[in-house]
Amino acid sequence: MSAAYQIIDHVYDVVVVGAGGAGLRATMGAAEKGLKTACVTKVFPTRSHTVAAQGGIAASLGNMGPDHWTWHMYDTVKGSDWLGDQDAIEYLCREAPAAVYELEHAGLPFSRTDEGKIYQRAFGGMTQNMGEGPAAQRTCAAADRTGHAMLHTLYQQSLRYDADFFVEYFALDLIMVDGECRGLLALCMEDGSIHRFRAQSVVLATGGYGRCYFSATSAHTCTGDGNAMVLRAGLPLQDMEFVQFHPTGIYGAGVLITEGARGEGGYLTNSAGERFMERYAPSAKDLASRDVVSRSMAMEIREGRGVGKEKDHIFLHLDHIDPKILAERLPGITETAKIFAGVDMTREPIPVTPTVHYNMGGIPTNYHGEVVTLKNGEPDSVVPGLFAVGEAACVSVHGANRLGSNSLIDLVVFGRAAGLRLGEILKPSAAQPMLPTDSADIALARLDKFRNADGDTPTAKLRNDMQRTMQADCAVFRTERTLDEGVGKIDAIYRGLQDIKVTDRSLIWNTDLVETMELDNMLSQAVVTMHSAANRKESRGAHMHEDYPNRDDAGWMRHTIAWFEGWGGTGGNVRIDYRPVHDYTLTDEVGYIKPKARVY
Ligand code: FUM
Repeated sequence: MSAAYQIIDHVYDVVVVGAGGAGLRATMGAAEKGLKTACVTKVFPTRSHTVAAQGGIAASLGNMGPDHWTWHMYDTVKGSDWLGDQDAIEYLCREAPAAVYELEHAGLPFSRTDEGKIYQRAFGGMTQNMGEGPAAQRTCAAADRTGHAMLHTLYQQSLRYDADFFVEYFALDLIMVDGECRGLLALCMEDGSIHRFRAQSVVLATGGYGRCYFSATSAHTCTGDGNAMVLRAGLPLQDMEFVQFHPTGIYGAGVLITEGARGEGGYLTNSAGERFMERYAPSAKDLASRDVVSRSMAMEIREGRGVGKEKDHIFLHLDHIDPKILAERLPGITETAKIFAGVDMTREPIPVTPTVHYNMGGIPTNYHGEVVTLKNGEPDSVVPGLFAVGEAACVSVHGANRLGSNSLIDLVVFGRAAGLRLGEILKPSAAQPMLPTDSADIALARLDKFRNADGDTPTAKLRNDMQRTMQADCAVFRTERTLDEGVGKIDAIYRGLQDIKVTDRSLIWNTDLVETMELDNMLSQAVVTMHSAANRKESRGAHMHEDYPNRDDAGWMRHTIAWFEGWGGTGGNVRIDYRPVHDYTLTDEVGYIKPKARVY
């Protein structure tokens, strides 16, 4: 097979796939350690989806009131509905302030207080004093363009290092030899050349797979390519049933309106003009965690109190806030509301609805970013040569529900951690064994099959079927019936790949082919997500199962891990097992935070 395609070979110490916040931070970290590093990315770095993050990055700087990293840790554990690993959460929250100061020193243009300190706003679920106190202003912001500012800062910094960027290269598959990751195969989309990267380690920083759903705040590039490569490598994904719906996606367009809007005093109303969050979360109200707010909104709509002609959405009010404050702190969404909802938010409410935003699940890793799997009864068995960071990874710091602004901090803390670990375990330019002669064959056979696919189903049709099914049957509220039906439907849609039609046979900028491979990637994750959701017989965080409405710690405080067999519509079996949740911390400075009822 490889004879039919020209392969260009490269040798690196480290290959990072993806150039969002986590990928860039890992690239910088590895290069800083003297490791010969390549970053392979399907979009230009500053177009990565991190650019779309708005409201901010969480760290207990205490600039706006008392704060402590242990309070941040408590909130994150509670937000995760006790599915997060507490060693990793301790690492995240303890390291967060230093990570933010590092960004500040690298030039990130944070908004400022009158004293010149980094401005911090309130975000859902962030509180003072181990959940006992009022809201904590912990989310460091650059107006409402924090991700944009962070991505540009990191990209500028990464150019200081001696790393090579392979831009607009689509990763095809990992090269696995005897259970070890030894490299990566990628397609240069511009000229169709195939690139084989031999490396001591590969770091997957490929983001989430929000585009499996019909309405998502995620960019069209968020197809979880790294997750799918991991499945094809015979490794499991973890906790895929936990899909976050952001409460405030613009109705119809799905574009994000930051939670920072509620952090600055915005509130939600139903058709009676009632601030209904007071009923669902009497203490935190509109700043309860995202799963709670999204569910409350869905409940209002379900019970006929939605707004609009179809009574199918909710209003977000910012029209009571001083326009000068809105212009200073929320300029981005002021523009977004005008363009995508046609409203002047200084005078009218914004129509919003819960919209898919984030995947808590992903590639299981430890807090160094090393990929782990269940092997011979050992739940934390490290997969040699393979790392994952950012939304692609499931460390797991977010457990069953991520708190807003804990994503950007996850990117930089664990991107940095991966760089540190790579520096510890690899020797720059160490000799690497040759790859087997057939190392590219499986990936090229898949590429070739899709390139010549001559069925009757256009890629866009099958993608639409997948997105509609996930939206309907694996939604904010789930039942035995919707999930069982969903399993049947998504399995059939997956098999539909056997009848896919690709029209463009060329290799030069063949978006038809790349979108079809992305669809194959998404479908394996959609199948795993639906099966994992149908399997979990409890409600926890973002997984609200109406036939099992309570959290069941005795039965289900454990991570789902799921393997998927096949690609291109063949196979399709899902096998599920479990890893224990880490109920220990890294140091004695903080003890295990015991489970309790999660009320806001
Ligand atoms: O609402 C937001 O600004 C999104 C932030 C996040 O997902 O962390």
